[in-house]
Amino acid sequence: MVRRANRPDFIGLVFFALSTYVIAAGVNAAEIKPVTATRGMVFSVSPSASAVGASILRAGGNAVDAAVATAMALAVTYPPAGNIGGGGFMLVLPAPGVEPVCIEYRETAPAAATETMFTLGETHLSAKAVGVPGTVHGLALAHRKYGRLPWNVLLQPAIGLARDGFAVDAALARSLNHVLADKKSRRCTEMLRVYRAPHSTTWERGDRLRQPDLAATLERIANQGPNGFYRGTTARKIVAEMKAGGGIITLEDLDRYRAKVRAPIHGTYRGFDIYGPPPPSSGGIVLIEMLNMLEPFKLREYGRWAPDTVHLMIEVMRRAYLDRARYLGDRDFVTIPTRLTTKDYAARLGARIDRRRATPSTSLAPEISLADGESSTTHFSIVDAHGMAVANTFTLEQSYGSRIMVRGAGFLLNNEMGDFNWTPGHTDRRGRIGTQPNRIAPGKRMLSSQTPVLVLHHGNPYLVTGSPGGRTIINTVLCVILNTLEFEMDLPAAIAAPRLHHQWLPDKVRFAAWREAPYRKLVTRLESMGHVFESRAGKQGDAHSILVDSTRHVLVGVADNRISGKAVGVDPLE
Ligand code: DON
Repeated sequence: MVRRANRPDFIGLVFFALSTYVIAAGVNAAEIKPVTATRGMVFSVSPSASAVGASILRAGGNAVDAAVATAMALAVTYPPAGNIGGGGFMLVLPAPGVEPVCIEYRETAPAAATETMFTLGETHLSAKAVGVPGTVHGLALAHRKYGRLPWNVLLQPAIGLARDGFAVDAALARSLNHVLADKKSRRCTEMLRVYRAPHSTTWERGDRLRQPDLAATLERIANQGPNGFYRGTTARKIVAEMKAGGGIITLEDLDRYRAKVRAPIHGTYRGFDIYGPPPPSSGGIVLIEMLNMLEPFKLREYGRWAPDTVHLMIEVMRRAYLDRARYLGDRDFVTIPTRLTTKDYAARLGARIDRRRATPSTSLAPEISLADGESSTTHFSIVDAHGMAVANTFTLEQSYGSRIMVRGAGFLLNNEMGDFNWTPGHTDRRGRIGTQPNRIAPGKRMLSSQTPVLVLHHGNPYLVTGSPGGRTIINTVLCVILNTLEFEMDLPAAIAAPRLHHQWLPDKVRFAAWREAPYRKLVTRLESMGHVFESRAGKQGDAHSILVDSTRHVLVGVADNRISGKAVGVDPLE
């Protein structure tokens, strides 16, 4: 275990190899090898995208330059979620001591969208489900505000990877084989063409994926900036695709798209400052509300896996996710109560938690009447030698988004419209929420759970984290933050530890380790308190995190072994 409050100091970072691996309860953290570096680090799900970001740092770029290059590379090397046809959230710490900023580039509903354009049970794999993409505008905005190297230079590595191809790893080969063989992909002829395996019917590790159409699109973006996407050839190709598939995005929708600079949601926990994304992400508010509720309890005394601790975690998740459903949506369209992130409000909610029994979710929200009745995102973290830090999460919503590949342009479109509440008033026990704040309106941004987070200590970066996983994202981040700040685990142990998820409805706990021997007694005890565990809980999240260990003067990157990923560090002697 490392002590907390390792105050980062960016002057004179020197190399120090980490040697202590810890066995987290039930999970072998020794299998997770931390990567250490002193002059910067890029950590993404794709080794080649991380390498691109690190090469930009070495070339004198800052963390935002590296973020732009990494994101563009991910659009090439990680097609399930890396994208230019989707959207996301980027948190930037411009320099130690400076207030962080959120670059919000969430997709928007097209002008022709209506509240009732979808019916219950309608597929998300349709042109109608595509939101106006935000990624290119968001990255350009981040670059305009903070970038140091020329935009065009930052796109060259991604163009090269698309044009010349790259060797797919085992995970991407599996993922491509899965989506290509899926019955639901049969009508996605352009995607089947672009991702066709080179040598046989299936992808093998080491096969090269070449994407010449995508290379040409990236060239247009490199040369023209956002206009290379939102106007001209690329825009016309997107609109042609929409017309062919019954979608509603127009040239005007694309031309009107703007990413936004927003103030992050800020909270504190045991002396650390936590910054998360504001609406239209629910991530920042829900995370801070949960941390505020937990802070007064003596979790460290109880212990990480004490029934008291886990019970309290579930109960705060239940309450904060209810508030998510009740109040959260695009703040440009709905008023969100400011009390949600205050310590007073959390104290009032926390005081009503029954310490002996699970509170039935439905009893908390009598005013919401209930009806009867593999996705993908990716996160990367970057810290540079000057203490500039970036936490970026972006997504196509489901894995490979709508699976609509823009013909001749080589990229996939999101199906983010699925994140709106589709059926007004239809809230059910299975987790479909029909509450008002997140209903569809033209130009509105759909509610997200993406939670890229910066944890600072005295203005310096301490932890950069985030994860994929839809609504589980916020709870994944909560677990990582509690493990490090409250339970003082080192980063390998904090990342390896099993994670919990509860989202108000369905009224069930997801805990992938629930059948494992070390947790049986805990689960039995919680069941006796009234908690119900979901029987098919899968792996939760993929939190590529960087911790700044100022005692050792080193950046520590830890890959989450739940999916894959690689940190690439920068050291002075390279
Ligand atoms: O923005 C959101 O909350 C979702 N569209 C994210 C989807 C997701 O994380 C799927 N991932 N694994």
